[in-house]
Amino acid sequence: MRALITGATGYVGSRLVPALLDAGFDVLAGARDPGKLAAFDTSPGGSPPEGTSPGSSTQESTASSGLALSRIATSVELDVMDADSCARALSGHGQVDVAYYLVHGLGEGDFAETDLVGARTFASAAAAAGVRRIVYLGGLVPPGQELSEHLESRRVVGETLREFGRGVDLVWLRAAIVLGAGSTSFELIRHLVDRLPVIPVPVWMEHRVQPIAVDDVVHYLRHSAEADVPAGAYDIGGPDALPYRDLVATYARVSGRRRFLLPVRGVSTALAARVIGWVVPLPSPLVADLVDSLSNTMVVTEETIRRFVPSPPGGVTGVREALRRCATPAGVAVVGPGASADALRLNDTDPEWAG
Ligand SMILES: NC(=O)c1ccc[n+]([C@@H]2O[C@H](COP(=O)([O-])OP(=O)(O)OC[C@H]3O[C@@H](n4cnc5c(N)ncnc54)[C@H](OP(=O)(O)O)[C@@H]3O)[C@@H](O)[C@H]2O)c1
Repeated sequence: MRALITGATGYVGSRLVPALLDAGFDVLAGARDPGKLAAFDTSPGGSPPEGTSPGSSTQESTASSGLALSRIATSVELDVMDADSCARALSGHGQVDVAYYLVHGLGEGDFAETDLVGARTFASAAAAAGVRRIVYLGGLVPPGQELSEHLESRRVVGETLREFGRGVDLVWLRAAIVLGAGSTSFELIRHLVDRLPVIPVPVWMEHRVQPIAVDDVVHYLRHSAEADVPAGAYDIGGPDALPYRDLVATYARVSGRRRFLLPVRGVSTALAARVIGWVVPLPSPLVADLVDSLSNTMVVTEETIRRFVPSPPGGVTGVREALRRCATPAGVAVVGPGASADALRLNDTDPEWAG
């Protein structure tokens, strides 16, 4: 089966590439600047095989970890805002069976409009190219709540992929925050806790969230390519739902830091985002867009995915265990996502503000 991954340089996409290769897929790794992919290990299970250049071509190869004979991914230029670029990526490398949509413009100005146009352009091209299925990972859509701009945009992207991908099955996975070192949401928590001995806790941090570890996300994404999973929208989540406040406290505990959480009243998400933007090294617009979503309760409201996808080996990862694995120091730089036995560890290709 041939899969095209949009956002292959991103947090989730970079971890999905080696997982699909391991599962025997032909993988096209899409990026606006495919040159960037050379820094990633786009082979299964480890560093690139000797004599091959990662991310340059598809070749038969034996992974250094001794995994079965497998392939490395093909780097493909792809800008979802550009119809010609989408058509070339979807048709220029053989028939694409499954296209993973893992793109967003969060933190980049008018992301809602950009995300809408990107989804429309890509879905239309996928329909024209005869793609069988699009698998999209978006945010949860908590019923009966006014959604933050970010969550509303993620919802609109799902609806747009469905509307413009005529004749293409859409499997739409919906998740709250994804846990793993390098994930924007986790890095926000890490930097706050690492830097502040006293952490102000506004009332909206009492809202509950049900995070999911990135290796479990990858598990669900991989299985969503299979025909056993009917087209539709599915919530995915870890086993624990807890207030945002407790998520912060749990990270402080597992990372061995004594922190005092101070309840505060009258602090809006907008004010908090401004202050957090000064404290953490993440780009301020990204922080603002993310913190805005803390006003929503983010827990799964249906679990039909369990009927179609087996649980990950060992079961889904709990919050404490996921945070423990994220908190482990990266140590020697891990070269490429496939080189790490643990997708929750930091990679040297993750953003410079991570870790
Ligand atoms: N991380 C989380 O906590 C979380 C939680 C729930 C759902 N999700 C969903 O998971 C998906 C992936 O998120 P992520 O955290 O992996 O994001 P990320 O690390 O920020 O990656 C975003 C990716 O989008 C690509 N991109 C942006 N504009 C593009 C364009 N015009 N054409 C092609 N590619 C473009 C970027 O590529 P460049 O290298 O070209 O910039 C990058 O690879 C998103 O749909 C998100 O809503 C994530």
